Amino acid sequence: MSIAQNKETIARFRCIACGATPDSAAQDFRCTVCGDLLEFFFSEWTFDPAALKALWLNRRASREALDQSGVWRFRELLPHISEEHAITLREGNTPLYQLPRCARAAGVENLHAKHQGMNPTASFKDTGMTFAASSAHQRKFRWVACASTGNTSASMAAYAARGNMHSLVLIPEGKISWGKLSQVLDYGALTCQLRTDFDGCVRILTDLVREKPVYLLNSVNPYRIEGQKTAAIELMEQLGWEPPDHIIVPGGNLGNSSAIGKALVEMREFKLISRLPKLSIIQAQGANPFYRCVREFGGKKLEPMTADTFATAIQIGNPASWKKALRVLQATGGEVEQVTEVEIAAAKAEIGADGIGCEPASAVTLAGLKKLRRSGFVKSGESVVLILTGHQLKDPDFTFKFHRGELFSGTPAETAATHAKSLQRAPIVLDADLGVVIAALDAAERNS
Ligand code: F0G
Repeated sequence: MSIAQNKETIARFRCIACGATPDSAAQDFRCTVCGDLLEFFFSEWTFDPAALKALWLNRRASREALDQSGVWRFRELLPHISEEHAITLREGNTPLYQLPRCARAAGVENLHAKHQGMNPTASFKDTGMTFAASSAHQRKFRWVACASTGNTSASMAAYAARGNMHSLVLIPEGKISWGKLSQVLDYGALTCQLRTDFDGCVRILTDLVREKPVYLLNSVNPYRIEGQKTAAIELMEQLGWEPPDHIIVPGGNLGNSSAIGKALVEMREFKLISRLPKLSIIQAQGANPFYRCVREFGGKKLEPMTADTFATAIQIGNPASWKKALRVLQATGGEVEQVTEVEIAAAKAEIGADGIGCEPASAVTLAGLKKLRRSGFVKSGESVVLILTGHQLKDPDFTFKFHRGELFSGTPAETAATHAKSLQRAPIVLDADLGVVIAALDAAERNS
């Protein structure tokens, strides 16, 4: 089945604050009238929901590259980009897993994880990047760039390489995991480790794209948000278009929550689903500007902070998309929560014990769910989907240190960390002797 030209929708830019509808976006993707963020909206649409669902499902059997992508498969709900510019690594089509042990730990009956870490570069960023990198290609840019805590840069570098574009990566020195940094090197990016944090990298990049012909691929780019919407569309398809009661996502720069929320609202508008799940956003306590924005300031303002968490992917103090995230929180009736470092580490080990695994930032979802259960916001009989954003192997350092009991040594969380001891499975060093190994096995069996 060949690519269908997207004739039924006309997508246009709109400023989220002043409502201006420019024909094109500036290099920094900020509204030229008021400086706020742009989004796409569909000014015309005529969909037959049942026909669309059948078309999307049929494409899974197609041999065409774009049909095989779990992003481009849903192109009727995306702005138009012509086929010759599409750069795809067959992203999306990620699994939805049941989490029985985590469900018991959290006190819910029906718990699933949609694992966006199962994308080509092992994070959810690929779904937005395939689309936004393609838009750079369509506009004939030689250079693309991003500031990143690691995953965006890995994804961007891969898609730039596939599309024969050069990529510039700005990352905070010493604050991203080696797994992510090593990906960027392999994909051939110009990698600059700046002596600042993520928010400092964003500031430099925003100024840079105003001066040089470099295409900005951070999630302020609305093409990123459009691509990332497809995770929610695919999730609904996997659930037979029966929405769960709750979807829970980690919150960093807040692009992902904005994208998933936008997809949910649009799907209801287009009658693809009949009701909205509640979308809740979880932050690390040490990187909680959005939590404070909602809980302390009633959503009126966001106070930037210096962020500090071992979950380096979400170590972000001044999230760009907070207004978009606030809107979807309100539209879906979701909640915002914060979780401690020890809660994150414990949740990560629990997700691992279900045979799934994820990176630390993704584990805030389970830790957050436990809190939302305790507060009564999530009821035991309600269905819940966690969005796991990154693969377990993105940050093996964290995992190794946790299981060896070293992660929290010398930190203020050292005492609290004793609660997570029962989840630690440090490797044991033994003599190369059959009897010794059998004794270890027998001891483990007695303790299991
Ligand atoms: N989980 C992971 C694994 C991430 O890498 C990120 C963000 C998030 C969650 C938060 O998503 O920013 O859309 O709210 N990582 C970015 C990066 C910032 O540069 O890789 P968000």
